[in-house]
Amino acid sequence: MKEKIIIAIDGWSSCGKSTLAKQLAKELSYIYIDSGAMYRAVTLYFLRNHIDWTSVPEVKDALKNITLEFKPNHTNGESEMYLNEENVEYVIRDMVVAEKVSEVAAIEEVRTFAVAEQQKMGTAKGIVMDGRDIGTTVFPNADLKIFMTADIAVRVERRFKEMYSKNPNITVEEVKANLEMRDYIDSHRSVSPLQKASDAIEINNTGLTPEEQLQLTLNYVKNLQKQA
Ligand code: C5P
Repeated sequence: MKEKIIIAIDGWSSCGKSTLAKQLAKELSYIYIDSGAMYRAVTLYFLRNHIDWTSVPEVKDALKNITLEFKPNHTNGESEMYLNEENVEYVIRDMVVAEKVSEVAAIEEVRTFAVAEQQKMGTAKGIVMDGRDIGTTVFPNADLKIFMTADIAVRVERRFKEMYSKNPNITVEEVKANLEMRDYIDSHRSVSPLQKASDAIEINNTGLTPEEQLQLTLNYVKNLQKQA
């Protein structure tokens, strides 16, 4: 099947979803969309503008002033998050945002806003999107759904390395607490909680190299292509 498909990748925080999604997008010449970056950008906007996100009218008004866009980095071509024309790709990875993003992402109005944007991005297919509700809510008819897991120790180590390079004051304990808190809120919220879609393929990548997880997933893509 050379026809373009939609690939949905969901899973727990720091499971390697974005690594796999980027690899697949590159291999298949698809567009990669990091849906988590959108929730992070909304959170950044709320924090900067002191939005009281427990107030539905305030949230609704604030969302009217938010434009989210992905644009390619001039050097490496990777897509980066723009909030109202400002490149926020780096700042949204900060712990200040990570501390609040799951609370903001649990708000129904925020999800309705983000999901509508994500669905628009998928109309042309040829897309790999990663997140928490892509296979369940954003693209329930996605051609391929992957649900990723990995041992918590491995996930903490990966995220710690990533964050330490930006902030040497960060501790392993802080990173672990943040992952666990986000996983708890993400899987217990009432709107689109993180859960494995019934037709998703589960990949535990604890012992897999990035290359192995790519090859494994590409096999699923090839099988789909044979069937078409
Ligand atoms: O993927 P990432 O870890 O950057 O996502 C940050 C947060 O955004 C998640 O912990 C979750 O609260 C929220 N999120 C979500 N639904 C998605 C993607 C991310 O609720 N599809």
